[in-house]
Amino acid sequence: MGVAGKPGASRVLIEGLKTLEYRGYDSAGVAIQHEGGLVVLRRAGKLAELEAALAELEPFGTTGMGHTRWATHGPPTEQNAHPHVDTHERVAVVHNGIIENHEAMRRELEATGCRFRSDTDTEVLAHLISERIKAGDDLSEAVRVTAQRLEGAYAFVVVSADHPDTVVGVRHFSPLVVGLAEGASFLASDIPALLPHTRSVMPLEDGDVVTLRPDGVSVCDVDGAAVERPTRTIDWDPVRIQKGGYKHFMMKEIEEQPAAIAATMASRLDDATGSIHMDALDALGDRLRAVTRMTFVACGTSWHAGLAGKFYIENIVGMPVGVDYASEFRYRSIRGGPDHLIVPITQSGETADTLGALRDAKAEGSPLISICNVPESSAARESDAVIQTEAGPEIGVASTKAFTTQLVALYMLALDLGLRRGVLSHDDVEARITPLRRVRYAMEGALRQAALVKEVAHRYADAQDFLFLGRGVNYPIALEGALKLKEISYIHAEGYPAGEMKHGPIALIDASMPVVTIATPGRVYEKVLSNIEEVRARDGVIIAVCAEGDERVRALADEVLEVPAVDEDLSPLVNVVPLQLLAYYIAEKRGCDIDQPRNLAKSVTVE
Ligand code: G6P
Repeated sequence: MGVAGKPGASRVLIEGLKTLEYRGYDSAGVAIQHEGGLVVLRRAGKLAELEAALAELEPFGTTGMGHTRWATHGPPTEQNAHPHVDTHERVAVVHNGIIENHEAMRRELEATGCRFRSDTDTEVLAHLISERIKAGDDLSEAVRVTAQRLEGAYAFVVVSADHPDTVVGVRHFSPLVVGLAEGASFLASDIPALLPHTRSVMPLEDGDVVTLRPDGVSVCDVDGAAVERPTRTIDWDPVRIQKGGYKHFMMKEIEEQPAAIAATMASRLDDATGSIHMDALDALGDRLRAVTRMTFVACGTSWHAGLAGKFYIENIVGMPVGVDYASEFRYRSIRGGPDHLIVPITQSGETADTLGALRDAKAEGSPLISICNVPESSAARESDAVIQTEAGPEIGVASTKAFTTQLVALYMLALDLGLRRGVLSHDDVEARITPLRRVRYAMEGALRQAALVKEVAHRYADAQDFLFLGRGVNYPIALEGALKLKEISYIHAEGYPAGEMKHGPIALIDASMPVVTIATPGRVYEKVLSNIEEVRARDGVIIAVCAEGDERVRALADEVLEVPAVDEDLSPLVNVVPLQLLAYYIAEKRGCDIDQPRNLAKSVTVE
């Protein structure tokens, strides 16, 4: 985050960084203009360490910048924390992303006697910019010319003691948004940091160099030509990014799911006529007619949503669907074309791998529909059309409500596409819409079981490994249950299609291995029961997610996590709830940092 012209800048930066800490939280730092020099303060660990150090000083400064780090080059020590400075501490830089050609520049600088103090790729920037300033450039010029030399995907922000009212930022494939206010200007890598100061924001484009001064901002490209970027007014409610009495954002967000999925359906389902309409498909116009296949590209939890989406599109529309990790898709020889619809699924819209896949597919001529939770994000802006999920800001690093809104978006995409392609009739759609509308109540029913899930969680909180099994549309939910558990409790957990267990993971099963199995009604129910028997025969401990009152499962399982019964297609929305709660309560019992688990970041803007 950067600020130009706001009294009490030290406080402003800390408050802004709190809203950005989800991007990385292994160390933090600020550089603030003060009495003709820069005050640079950095701390290893959470932002709270830096906040405590700054609290010893009165709020000070009007211009400066701050950063929270997710380590790429060098361990998360104070020395590697940002900002990085030049030899005389006249120039300071904070940076997201990776400078890929930093080594060559470092060697070049070292050959001229420059001494480096960190392991980071960032530090070269401070030295290079400082040299340009010494050669007579002003700060904007020095930054712009330095940016011309850089390779990689990055955003960085610079202050210089010789330019006390100026902050300069560069965006190149990592997000950077400007905030405009009376007498002050701001920039940040995400909008929530700006909202306490302004509703007027200006998202930058790749290649932009922005200069902030108290009286306004100017933007140019790396060649120095002025560019204009439109401003937008943000109408979010900042209350949505507060904990509201919950111990953790994650629990708040788990409980918000029924409302979030309802909001995602709201403008797309018409109760009066029993019909569905996805504007995103209209936006593709004639290009949609040429489409013969589809690929979802995503990372992490969003990739799991893609696996469920494959089930929906193939079963409902009959169109072949691929699901690829975005980081793998990029390096395949077949990456799209006019008949190949690419659907990036991304909560943040800023995940570097997903954006890379999106851009590659675009270059191959693929139509692009993103499923995205942030309308101002890069993915949303760069796609031909966007299906916006209405999860609202998701702060907990482990994704919950973003995931379930993605599932709903994918299901609606399948219905609308089925209608447009003539494989579903209006009556077919109408028959599916009522249960879809009602599924939020089943989710609420699943949430009411939280106290029972907590008891089960406490009984198994010391387990070393977990296996999660599911079949069909609940196979992705098994993967998601395992991912949630490992992300926040650090217990080793694997998700498998239940039928695949016998081909390997069964070797791991003994009396110390809890096996969480999704056994709700549907076409694979009997098969899952057979898989449960196979685990029992080997003394494994069965924790089953099953429909309320299912005596057959109850008779086989050691523990049951009951959920209201719903249509099989919609069951992932309900079944994932006890798995989210299980992970949460196990992590809580183990004393883990639930909203900010070790080593992770919510938005991973490096490849
Ligand atoms: C990170 C987060 C995950 C998330 C993934 C994809 O790894 O920790 O929770 O699922 O990124 O994020 P996206 O914003 O693209 O959905």
